[in-house]
Amino acid sequence: MDYHFHMRTQLPPSALARDERFHRITTEERFADERLNGAGEDRRMDPASSESADRARRQMHGIFVGEIQALEGAGRTAFDYDTSETPFAMKLDMARQCWDEARHVEISLLLGDHMGTDVGEYSEAVTLFEAACHPDPVFRLAGVNRALEGLAIDVFTTMRDFAIEMNDQVLYFAEDWMLADEVTHVKMGSNWLREITKNDKERQTQALEFQRTVDGLFNFRGMRGEGREASIRLARKFREMAGFATEEIDEIAAMATADREARLAASSATATAI
Ligand SMILES: [Fe+2]
Ligand SMILES: [Fe+2]
Repeated sequence: MDYHFHMRTQLPPSALARDERFHRITTEERFADERLNGAGEDRRMDPASSESADRARRQMHGIFVGEIQALEGAGRTAFDYDTSETPFAMKLDMARQCWDEARHVEISLLLGDHMGTDVGEYSEAVTLFEAACHPDPVFRLAGVNRALEGLAIDVFTTMRDFAIEMNDQVLYFAEDWMLADEVTHVKMGSNWLREITKNDKERQTQALEFQRTVDGLFNFRGMRGEGREASIRLARKFREMAGFATEEIDEIAAMATADREARLAASSATATAI
C-alpha cells in the first residue's frame, strides 16, 4: 500500500500558533508607532535616562517575539522546498538555525524575567515571519537571514554595549552568546544566496533588491546608524564576519544617514511651524 503524506507548505502568518497571552498587531501599525520611529530627537539607549529601562524591556520583548518567528521561519524554509529547489546541506543549516533560535527563545524569555517584563506585555507584529513567507527561498535568505538577522546583529551588539554601561553581566553574557549565533545565521544566508544564484545573476540582483527594501524599512528613519547617538548601531565588524561586503555596509549606513537627516529636517520644520 502506498501512503501519501502531505503537510502544507507556505504557511500564512495568520496560521502561526500563539496562545492568548500574545497581542498581534500589523506591520503597518508597528511602523506607524512613533515611539519606534523617533519623534525627531536622537534616542540612544542611555543608562542615565529614566526611560531607558522601559525601552530596554520593550526591545527585549521585541527580540523575544522575533526569536519565535526566526524559529518558525527557518523551520518553514527547511520544510517548504524539495532538494531541487534548496540543496540538502542548506536544509541542514536551516535545521541547525532552528535549534539556535529555540535556545534564543528560551534565553529571551529568561532575560524578560531578568529585566522585569512578561510575555504579551508588548504587542507582536509578525514582520519577520512575513518576510519568511516569500515563495522564492533566495528571497528568504536575503530578506530574513541577511536583512533581519543582520539587524539582530546590530541590536544584540547595541544591547551588549548597553549591558556594559549598566554593568549587567547576565544581559551582557546572554547578548554576546546570541550574537555569535546570529553572525553564523547571516553567514549562512550570504553563502547560500551566492551558491544558489551563482548561475542566475538576475535572480541574485532581485533578491538583493528585496534585501535593500527590508533594510531601508528597518533603518527606522535613521534610528539605526553608525554614530554614538544612534539607538541601534550598525555593527560593522560582525557584519563583515557574516559575509557582508564593505560596500554593502556602506550602503546601509548611507541610507540610514539620509533617513536620519530627513527625519531631523522634518522635525525642525515642525518645531519652526509651532
Ligand atoms: Fe536568534
Ligand atoms: Fe538568527
